[in-house]
Amino acid sequence: MIGQGMQTAIYLAAAILFILSLRGFSDQETAKKSNWYGIIGMALAVLATTFGPGVENYGLLIGAFAVAAIIGIWVAMRVEMTQMPQLVAILHSFVGLAAVLVGFDSYLEHYNEEINLSFNIRLIEIVAGIFIGAVTFTGSIIAYGKLQGSITGKAMIYPGRHILNILLILACIIVGALFIYQAPHDGMVHLLIIAILSSILGILLVMAIGGADMPVVVSMLNSYSGWAAAAAGFMLGNDLLIVTGALVGSSGAILSYIMCKAMNRHFLSVILGGFGQTTQKMKLPDHKANGHTTATSVEEVSMLLKGSKNVIIAPGYGMAVAKAQHSIAEMTKNLRARGINVRFAIHPVAGRLPGHMNVLLAEADVPYDIVMEMDEINEDLDNTDVVLVVGANDIVNPAAEEDTSSPIYGMPVIEAWKAKNVIVLKRSMASGYAGVVNPLFYRDNTKMLFGDAKDSIEGLQIHLN
Ligand code: TAP
Repeated sequence: MIGQGMQTAIYLAAAILFILSLRGFSDQETAKKSNWYGIIGMALAVLATTFGPGVENYGLLIGAFAVAAIIGIWVAMRVEMTQMPQLVAILHSFVGLAAVLVGFDSYLEHYNEEINLSFNIRLIEIVAGIFIGAVTFTGSIIAYGKLQGSITGKAMIYPGRHILNILLILACIIVGALFIYQAPHDGMVHLLIIAILSSILGILLVMAIGGADMPVVVSMLNSYSGWAAAAAGFMLGNDLLIVTGALVGSSGAILSYIMCKAMNRHFLSVILGGFGQTTQKMKLPDHKANGHTTATSVEEVSMLLKGSKNVIIAPGYGMAVAKAQHSIAEMTKNLRARGINVRFAIHPVAGRLPGHMNVLLAEADVPYDIVMEMDEINEDLDNTDVVLVVGANDIVNPAAEEDTSSPIYGMPVIEAWKAKNVIVLKRSMASGYAGVVNPLFYRDNTKMLFGDAKDSIEGLQIHLN
């Protein structure tokens, strides 16, 4: 057992470790170490809470730990890298549910206390915690369903939805006020109503968001889950939970903002939903109006690569699906050994989660110094002999710059079409996540290398050797 003072000191150390961890994640080279800061910080936090004042039932605690650890390890061992966004979404839902349960528990523990300022503040915390927690809980479950494909990825749009959402928020505020001012000692029903209304709000909010806005939703829910945790921290009187919740809440909000910028979307328009509803007409160059593409072969592409000086690889979600990163790393070594300048162009929302491509390339030991951000490399594309688009689609779509009617118009993209030759590695002419046509595939300087990305890269390797 440790005393209050020791617990506070350990909490402080844990909070510093969390801050260091977040700081380190901004750079690939320090990201691995940052994970350890986070792990150690969390271990300290759990130990200091477990052995701190106020814990009595160790049997229950150990039982809960054991079940949670078994489920956590089992899920983490099985989850594929491509399923990571779903995992993150469902984990956010647990945080939301925990905040709701803590809210009810806090009420049951304190409901018959004397009415004074601190009691009223506690009631406000309970209402806020249940509201944010329930929105996070159901919103995250819907995001999970959409990412998993068990719920349609299309935005659910109906007339008057904004009014309905505003009415739900107003109803929660009114019931919350009635609870605090009229029924503080008998308000279980009020809290249940708030929980139900905010759960419905969470469902409606996320159902209305579709297609290319899902990454922002995941990070927005990340932010909500942080605020829900902070609210739980207030209710439990746990300073570390407040600090951690605020860190998660604010970093999630900053990440959402960065992603909105990367997709040229306004945060508010993302939250309000409805993106991707316009039916887009395919705009192709006149002479390609019949929609012909030019297919190529591994033999032809390997010849082209051998004769190149500058090559850029633009990976996307398909690289993750094909698990092609190791083959790409091998091919990169091979090309560099031939004196070819090979670099990677990383779009901020390539793949299905922030940093998705960076993680995969780091896993395959691709040197960090040839992995460039989109902004760094776009200006070099004019002087590039070949761009290999590996399983990417939306992030190299010229319609984002050229076609004002495109749903992704305004989203910054990797300007692959500016290179002398563009080789697109994908299996078919299917569209990407945003569900929009990609005119890049029909350009004169583009050739399609159809097939699974890993098979194609391995084929190229054989012909390069
Ligand atoms: P997408 O636009 O989704 O395109 C991926 C392409 O990969 C598909 O067109 C698919 O075409 C191809 N593909 C799939 N499996 C393949 C395989 N085994 N081998 C070769 N190709 C394969 O991906 P992107 O360009 O990376 O763009 C990301 C999109 O996802 C953006 O719209 C973004 O907003 C959204 N999004 C991003 C995130 C984050 S945070 N990164 C999260 C959620 C959503 P085929 O089927 O023809 O092979």
